[in-house]
Amino acid sequence: MISSREELQRVREMYSRNLMTEKKRILVCAGTGCVSGGSLEIFERLSELVSKRGMNCQVELQEEPHENTIGMKKSGCHGFCEMGPLVRIEPEGYLYTKVKPEDCEEIVDKTIVAGEHIERLAYNQNGIVYKKQDEIPFYKKQTRLVLEHCGQIDSTSITEYIATGGYCALEKALFDMSSDDIINEISEANLADAVEEDFRQDANGHK
Ligand code: FES
Repeated sequence: MISSREELQRVREMYSRNLMTEKKRILVCAGTGCVSGGSLEIFERLSELVSKRGMNCQVELQEEPHENTIGMKKSGCHGFCEMGPLVRIEPEGYLYTKVKPEDCEEIVDKTIVAGEHIERLAYNQNGIVYKKQDEIPFYKKQTRLVLEHCGQIDSTSITEYIATGGYCALEKALFDMSSDDIINEISEANLADAVEEDFRQDANGHK
């Protein structure tokens, strides 16, 4: 249990280091759309193949260093459901689309073991092949704030959330701000106006 600021900072630093030292991370989208397209089967198949190739398959972040492990993660919905099931490979940032269980062997042997990109699984628009998720026009137009890490960490893991800065705002509010500071910050953010504007647009039938 985390009961102090120092403990939160120690835990964040430890899990952040362990997350960054994973040799590779395979993120299989476990949002509803991709699950309905078979992503959980793909997750199991990839995990099995990674282990079969003699690599250390790590599903959860541990307290020990993670050098030479292959992290297997179930990510949240990337917002690109029509191209699912999606598989993202880190640290390269490769995004594979419409992945099928029969593609798993090639993904493990070519991308995980040999470090090669598989062009036929990449997103293709107007003849242009996009290797990385960030390069795809659909994502390029977006600035993700709350969902900044969506698709890049295990969406069910509180340790990965903490490792990527989770609870920083709570920490700041608890230890660096007075009650008045917090009230002022919320007031200045105009959240009430933003919500009111949302309601107004809803009532008018458009957004
Ligand atoms: S469910 Fe996978 S991208 Fe939406």
